[in-house]
Amino acid sequence: MATMAPKQTRPQVRQTQCFIGGKWLPAASGKTFDTINPATEEVIAEVAEGDADDVDAAVDAAREAFDRGPWSTMDARDRGRLMNKLADLIEAEIDELAALESLDNGKPIRDARNADFPLVVDCLRYYAGWADKIHGQTIPVRGDYFCYTRREPVGVVGQIIPWNFPALMTAWKWGPALAAGCTIVMKPAEQTPLTCLRMARLAQKAGIPDGVINVVPGYGPTAGASIVRHPGVDKIAFTGEGSTAKIIQREATETMKRTTFELGGKSPNVIFADADMNAAIAGAHFGLYFNQGQCCCAGSRVFVQDKVYDQFCEQIVKRNGQRRLGDPLDPQTEQGPQVDQAQFDKIMKYVEYGKQDGAKCLTGGKRFGSKGYYVEPTLFADVTDDMRIATDEIFGPVMSVLKFSDVDEIVDRANNTEFGLAAAVWTRDIAKAHRFAAKVRAGTVWVNCYDVFDAGAPFGGFKQSGIGRELGEAGLANYTESKTVTVSMT
Ligand code: NAI
Ligand code: MG
Repeated sequence: MATMAPKQTRPQVRQTQCFIGGKWLPAASGKTFDTINPATEEVIAEVAEGDADDVDAAVDAAREAFDRGPWSTMDARDRGRLMNKLADLIEAEIDELAALESLDNGKPIRDARNADFPLVVDCLRYYAGWADKIHGQTIPVRGDYFCYTRREPVGVVGQIIPWNFPALMTAWKWGPALAAGCTIVMKPAEQTPLTCLRMARLAQKAGIPDGVINVVPGYGPTAGASIVRHPGVDKIAFTGEGSTAKIIQREATETMKRTTFELGGKSPNVIFADADMNAAIAGAHFGLYFNQGQCCCAGSRVFVQDKVYDQFCEQIVKRNGQRRLGDPLDPQTEQGPQVDQAQFDKIMKYVEYGKQDGAKCLTGGKRFGSKGYYVEPTLFADVTDDMRIATDEIFGPVMSVLKFSDVDEIVDRANNTEFGLAAAVWTRDIAKAHRFAAKVRAGTVWVNCYDVFDAGAPFGGFKQSGIGRELGEAGLANYTESKTVTVSMT
């Protein structure tokens, strides 16, 4: 564990405008929107509300930097050097960045400081190392020809991200795009624009040329949709809700854009009676309640074998009772508020559904405190597969615990979902773990652990959890086009 940051006072909000072609600009319309502190419901700052005109300007700047500008002519190794410089600048300001993330998103400072930002820095450094290692092949074709492939950047990429890991999603998107030589028009989530904008400021300071990274804060159906429709954008990378992805997929078809999607989940976390129960209980608790339950890969369907079911529930009840909710900027706080009123309302609706459908609410189900979007850590036992709390992504601190008895039934039940982002299994029987890992339809499987991420390990969804992979070498592939060059040797 990294050292804990001292208790942060309110961090300074510095960048609130659009970042286009290296300039900080108000929205062309002059409009702004408020970004809210979810712990207090107070306005933190007014942020430029970008729309189609701002997106046009950002795409122009990105096209210029890609088609004619310094990015396309720079040596690949120098691109990597600038990316490392950006990582260094982020690392140097990590305490303030973590506080800014905590303020805007509501996540505990200890998580922002010890999880989000170390992963941000690591991701940028990992992809910096790729910049000069992207190469093609020579192909032995028939006839007197020399044939080779080049892997070229896909071009200008539009990147649209959600609010649950604002800085980390920025790094996951920028890392492979910059390494491949692409230029970027990014729209951060309207709930959490501040750390993305600050990272753009640091990118400028690192010497990443004007126009390579552009950030247009604003709303989805306006700024976001303008990026998706723009003929000057070659690819869209999106993380967020499935229903939004389907709109984007349809709109992107018009211009045949490349698209990659990282969407939601209802990930099964399977605990066998032969598991190390202390580890399984701690891992299941972390796998669901981390980040206020606002994780695409949250282990939100916890299947527990009958022999240990009661013991498991008792221990989660105990842990929930001890969980420290409070001011996200306090280093002792373990759980902050949900990101906004809409998420709070959605979670409360699902708590009602859980009760209506006959599940037993063992902890929580209520608002915590009187200010801020806090939800008590909630535990539902006696959940069955068809209840709404077992089928739908809730995106909050609500654990659904289901019972199973038979090893043969569990793979089918785990796979009985439209999603396929992640899964986990806890057992001391290594063969059983591998069999489950092979059969479960999910992009990531954790064995005796949960939420272990690494910049080198691909992440993404089967089924309706997405298309394509992020991180690792697989994440780079989405940002390159293959070009075949055939040369007559006669
Ligand atoms: P969302 O998918 O609407 O928002 C994600 C991003 O897409 C934001 O930047 C938003 O402005 C943008 N967007 C929205 N509509 C757009 C459009 N028509 N064209 C282009 N961009 C658009 O997700 P939202 O509304 O913030 O959250 C709703 C639910 O989605 C959550 O309750 C949760 O279940 C799920 N979700 C899943 C995430 C994941 O990581 N898988 C992240 C965030 C939300
Ligand atoms: Mg939405």
